[in-house]
Amino acid sequence: MLRRPRRNRKSEVIRNMVEETRLSVKDLILPLFLLDGKNQKMEVSSMPGIYRYSTDLLLKEIDTCMNLGIMAFDIFPAYPESKKDETATESYNPDTFYLKAISSVKRNFPEACIMTDVAMDPYSSDGHDGLVIDGKIVNDETLKILGKMALAQAEAGADILGPSDMMDGRVGYIRQLLDENGFQDVSIMAYTAKYASAFYNPFRDALDSAPKSGDKKTYQMNPANAIEALIEAELDFNEGADFLMVKPALAYLDIIKLLKDHFNIPIAAYNVSGEYAMIKASALNGWLDGERAMLESLLSIKRAGANIILSYFAKEFAILQKQ
Ligand code: PBG
Repeated sequence: MLRRPRRNRKSEVIRNMVEETRLSVKDLILPLFLLDGKNQKMEVSSMPGIYRYSTDLLLKEIDTCMNLGIMAFDIFPAYPESKKDETATESYNPDTFYLKAISSVKRNFPEACIMTDVAMDPYSSDGHDGLVIDGKIVNDETLKILGKMALAQAEAGADILGPSDMMDGRVGYIRQLLDENGFQDVSIMAYTAKYASAFYNPFRDALDSAPKSGDKKTYQMNPANAIEALIEAELDFNEGADFLMVKPALAYLDIIKLLKDHFNIPIAAYNVSGEYAMIKASALNGWLDGERAMLESLLSIKRAGANIILSYFAKEFAILQKQ
């Protein structure tokens, strides 16, 4: 035998030399959940180890994470039912706790990269990402609301906006508004191929944002489709997105690879709440080695072609790296 691939696996040193994919804490964005109030920290029941923080404690958590090397955060707000309405008015109220928290994070940690979420669901009494009229999610009317939300977030100091709503034309609409208002330097990470997935449920628990009726299948993509992801990607690219995101990650590694192979801008993948919950639940039961399962799944997302990974495991990964 001339070719014995096992020779390149015979020692740790050689295995390390021939390692093709390396994950760094610099690849990661940590999603964080924010609550109104002071001194509040509540665990998300379906996401062991993940909390909703009030702004004061969120600042402390960000400080801890930055000391571990995590520099990028995606902040999601949890609003009480009383603040929600049909048109998501609270999302662009300059005095709302979410926008104030973003300003305060940027003031305290100017070198951190802060990403925000552009979609109506946390503020909508219908629990949908778009405006509901007569039971339908209306696209173009939603854009106007998303535009106001995006501008308010840029004003608050967000570095990257993440339109997660899947309305048609929203990347271009937001890009133009940002540019007209002097926010040329605010980036857009488009949720490009966001699938109508069962893996978002723990996130909806975290934000109490599940749709009150129906599902999200008229705007999020059908899990059966790949070619359609190329159409979404082409649109987002042409509309000025700085990054293209695939979401969820693990059941969609082929889509990550597909976008990586066809587009020359960075590809992000969202290792979503349900993917976190699955590993945590089985690790807590002693069915899987949680640490190894985490490392293997993050690595597979990077190997598939993601330059950036949004993951609830970011902090745990950073702690492991430090050891
Ligand atoms: C909503 C939004 C969702 C997630 C991010 N933004 C949920 C949804 O579309 O219902 C999911 C993230 C996760 O599951 O971790 N705009």
